[in-house]
Amino acid sequence: MKRFLTALTLSAVVSAGFAQEIPQLGNVLNREKTSLNGAWNYIVDVQEEGYYDYRMNPTPWGFFLNAKPQRPEDLIEYDFDKAPQMQIPSDWNTKDEKLFFYEGTLWFKKSFNYSKKANKRAVLYFGAVNYEAYVYLNGKLLGRHEGGFTPFNYDVTDFIKDGENFLIVKVDNKRKKANVPTQIFDWWNYGGITRDVYIIETDDVYIENYNFVIDKTGKKQIYFSIDLNKNEEGKAVQITFPELKINRTFTSNSDGKISGVLKFKDLTLWSPENPKLYSVILKLDESTLKDEIGFRTIETDGKKLLLNGKQIFLRGISIHEEKTNGGGRANSVEDAKQLLSWAKELGCNFVRLAHYPHNEFMVREAEKEGILVWSEIPVYWTIDWENPATLSNAKNQLKDMINRDKNRANVIIWSIANETPHGQTREKFLSQLSEYAKSLDSTRLISMAMEVTSAANYHNKLQDNMNKYVDVISFNQYIGWYRDVNDAPKMTWEIPYNKPVIISEFGGGAKYGYHGAKNQRWTEEFQENLYQENVAMIDKIDGLAGTTPWILKDFRSPRRVLNDVQDYYNRKGLFSDKGEKKKAFYVMKNWYEKKKQEYDKK
Ligand code: GCU
Repeated sequence: MKRFLTALTLSAVVSAGFAQEIPQLGNVLNREKTSLNGAWNYIVDVQEEGYYDYRMNPTPWGFFLNAKPQRPEDLIEYDFDKAPQMQIPSDWNTKDEKLFFYEGTLWFKKSFNYSKKANKRAVLYFGAVNYEAYVYLNGKLLGRHEGGFTPFNYDVTDFIKDGENFLIVKVDNKRKKANVPTQIFDWWNYGGITRDVYIIETDDVYIENYNFVIDKTGKKQIYFSIDLNKNEEGKAVQITFPELKINRTFTSNSDGKISGVLKFKDLTLWSPENPKLYSVILKLDESTLKDEIGFRTIETDGKKLLLNGKQIFLRGISIHEEKTNGGGRANSVEDAKQLLSWAKELGCNFVRLAHYPHNEFMVREAEKEGILVWSEIPVYWTIDWENPATLSNAKNQLKDMINRDKNRANVIIWSIANETPHGQTREKFLSQLSEYAKSLDSTRLISMAMEVTSAANYHNKLQDNMNKYVDVISFNQYIGWYRDVNDAPKMTWEIPYNKPVIISEFGGGAKYGYHGAKNQRWTEEFQENLYQENVAMIDKIDGLAGTTPWILKDFRSPRRVLNDVQDYYNRKGLFSDKGEKKKAFYVMKNWYEKKKQEYDKK
């Protein structure tokens, strides 16, 4: 009877879906924290027997209990301590060759010691888990999270023990129609705990997030807002920008919020040429939180893109979040430095972080190096437009992307979609995303990668009802790859909207080291000629404010199966998957040098 009652109690908890998830903490990298990175044990659970019983009901006896036999006759058919280990953070596809193509559930377990401190809260933080996570601490469900590229965190103060703890995560990367992204996408479905895991220590009342934005009318002042984790009135927060000679204290209102204006005498604006960052210290009670903040303005004036009031051309490149050594998901400062060094070799001042929010190291490193960023949520291709859960998921990912990076000066564009099919349900879905993004952050530009809809007699006209919901008109075109490169010189372009234009993708594939005539598909000469024709063609587009050719480096994709050429790689990179520059790299580099000179003169 006891066992039956316990089962009922547990299943009630599971079905109640304990939700310890709390709003995302901003600036995690600079907070007091303990890392849970390192060796985790893992069990591959193809039929999710660690979660469901044989009638497909959630079982109270799941793997999340980390149960051990108490008596010789006890039957327990799993043992994490006998299971293999994986270094976390990492995707599983490149860490265990049996898992290269695997799409399904893996269970991860990490045992750790913790010493609780009086009056301190403990927040469990994941940089990202792809795609769905159920998180259990000491056998208790903290919550379920969906979305593979944004952070989430749980208040575990009442669950974490003084001494030995065990953390178990059920990770499932199965593709599903209702997911964001949906079942098909042209990148590798890297599953796992793909970014850092921390326990963050906070006071009972702490600074949850904040935002600093310079007045774009030219007044020498900064607008700021600070959110505490609780509706505590009268909490004093001291804001210090030493270099700006700002040192002021404000108190929170009954919602636990503070907002106001900070005046300054002199300030150097952040720019690609001079990526100036200012140290800021926020002090609440005995705790301080430091950050580095850059100030700049980004606006449009008709078809012009203005950074700090000066017209700019975005010399960009698209990038997938993949290590440069073939090792799967990029997730470290070193990965960021490597990928950005290649972009800088190309002459870039801008990167399109496709097709999902990249890790925070990438955005912060780009900010330090003066590289502007387009950040995007994976509303990609044929999303389940009429599913309310899908919209809610997309909004969550958008909110989490913005909340994580809203203090990064180099992020100038939030992108809400890529190559989505026209139609009423798509426009209803995307217009809500656009309005939601603007409600969260009115200081940045909204865009999305559209597609040219008509190209009769070489006249390409872009018409998209979403034009009124974006600040920058961006579109992908593949003249020379999916259409004949010899048509390029005959092409004319019509983008009938008085907004800046970015070509968010163009390009073609080549297998590094394969040489031949320029009409021979897959040769470097074919790709080189394609780039020559394309830069000549796009130079004529009225209002072109930038481009992010597809793509920096060859990347893994299950959709690219041509043996001896693709071998599960999309070969459109200007670098090979081994970091070798293809001939087209130099075409793009030369063109960007020309564009830089042209705009430096303006
Ligand atoms: C599309 C898509 C990319 C894809 C590329 C290609 O434009 O946006 O994700 O990889 O085309 O076909 O290589």
